[in-house]
Amino acid sequence: MKIGIMGAMPEEVEVIQELMTDISETTYGGRVYIIGKINTVEVVLVFSRWGKVASATTITTLINEFKIKQLIFVGVAGAVNPELNIGDIVISEKLYQHDMDPSPILPKYEIPLTGVTFFYADPVLVTEAKAVCEEILAKVTTMIPFESLTKFKISKPKCYIGTIGSGDKFITSSKQFAEILIDKPETMAVEMEGAAVAQVCHDYAIPFVIIRTISDKANHEAHIDFPAFIAEIAKHYSKYIVQHLIK
Ligand code: ADE
Repeated sequence: MKIGIMGAMPEEVEVIQELMTDISETTYGGRVYIIGKINTVEVVLVFSRWGKVASATTITTLINEFKIKQLIFVGVAGAVNPELNIGDIVISEKLYQHDMDPSPILPKYEIPLTGVTFFYADPVLVTEAKAVCEEILAKVTTMIPFESLTKFKISKPKCYIGTIGSGDKFITSSKQFAEILIDKPETMAVEMEGAAVAQVCHDYAIPFVIIRTISDKANHEAHIDFPAFIAEIAKHYSKYIVQHLIK
């Protein structure tokens, strides 16, 4: 079975590519699709690009041109649940688009012509992802240098299964995330692609899971250490997750 892997950052794609053998590449719409194998399983790896439209077109190509039968998405997210800390992981139970509002024609957040607000990830993939994420978090101190963990105040990172809100906005204020929480208080994390990718997977009946490492708390400091977090923490998580999820 061919598995699609999408990374939300080029740095993640680069390290995941190190796991691949029998590599070839094809370009569609400016995206480079890297074809090969991980642990003898056929995979196609691609940088999602950022935002709902870019990521939706990328996943559509993975499905229609490469005939993937399952999707694993790795990336980072901002935490809107105050219990979450930087370095934690959120695995999608379900996703919705926090900037979708077709009211008064349809209910706020409902995706037109689907009757759906929440797109559910595949429960089997979610359970498998949870086991792999627990594993990585248990040995995080052996995988990532102490200085990096201290820099991001990562001490006992946890893994959650929950609701992810996606929208075409990098959330950088408590006012913005308070608005998200008023309507959907169960939202754990926000990012810019997951629910769009989930919508396309739903249309084509492709089982998927979205796995997001918390890079920031979606407040005024959200963007400050972003590149350093990807380079020092998130890309290592993503590589480990993919390596152990694909067997
Ligand atoms: N991805 C990582 N952090 C984010 C934030 N604060 N808002 C939206 N997407 C993000």
